[in-house]
Amino acid sequence: MPVIVIANQKGGVGKTTTVAALGTLLSQQGRGVHLIDMDPQASLTSTFGKEDPGGQLYQALATRGPLPIVEITDHLTLSPSSIDLASGEQRFVSQPGRENLLRACLQKTPLPPGTLILVDSPPSLGVLSTNTLAAASHVVIVLHPGGYEMRALARFIEVLEQLRELEVNPTLAVAGVILTNCQHRRRINDQVDQEVSRHYPVLGRVRAEADLMYATTDGNILSLKRSNAMEDYRAVLDKLKGVIDGK
Ligand SMILES: Nc1ncnc2c1ncn2[C@@H]1O[C@H](COP(=O)(O)OP(=O)(O)OP(=O)(O)O)[C@@H](O)[C@H]1O
Ligand SMILES: [Mg+2]
Repeated sequence: MPVIVIANQKGGVGKTTTVAALGTLLSQQGRGVHLIDMDPQASLTSTFGKEDPGGQLYQALATRGPLPIVEITDHLTLSPSSIDLASGEQRFVSQPGRENLLRACLQKTPLPPGTLILVDSPPSLGVLSTNTLAAASHVVIVLHPGGYEMRALARFIEVLEQLRELEVNPTLAVAGVILTNCQHRRRINDQVDQEVSRHYPVLGRVRAEADLMYATTDGNILSLKRSNAMEDYRAVLDKLKGVIDGK
């Protein structure tokens, strides 16, 4: 089952928006998608108007049990998060095999065959984000062309190399990079695009759009119509599917 983590340790670059948009589009195309919110800020969870009142995601990770599953639509489900997950950052760190908690949970989680899993990760390089990278088949890096992002990318590449060297996930593939929340006609978009493409394929650029920002924060991305940013995400998704399916 493909497990795609959307990552960057830098905050506010568009990770959660990307998971919400790609999950929405895939499910609208009739593909079964399961989203996992591994961020204690629980932004993805609130984007879909859900909650994790009992801290079930934290409990699942702590006991290596099946992940909680809540239904959003026929084709879209979610493992919601809550602030309880924040304590995992300290509690899990001293446990042996701490990198593989999410992977163990996923093996016990009954998802229909063919489901694509998208994981949102927190803006940090702690145990929770390491767990997302350890459980993934592919990582998609999200960058917001603005400032300091090349430094953030360099640091992230180092982390991926460390994970490979430590054999945490030797087969993890970088599917590519998405440039998100791109302001119209800024030269920096081209500069970052060129620099990034020396390392990884650029899966596309997503335009900055107020409607998308309101739709995610107000919890109605599923009914967002006539959105340029969602059109951009559709093009990104076509490329991403090509990479995942090996075309
Ligand atoms: N294409 C876009 N157009 C307009 N606003 C956007 C777009 N993409 C993201 N944003 C906005 O940018 C902000 C950061 O996005 P988001 O929360 O997705 O980033 P993040 O990387 O998940 O942040 P964090 O690291 O805090 O989890 C949010 O206010 C979001 O609505
Ligand atoms: Mg986020």
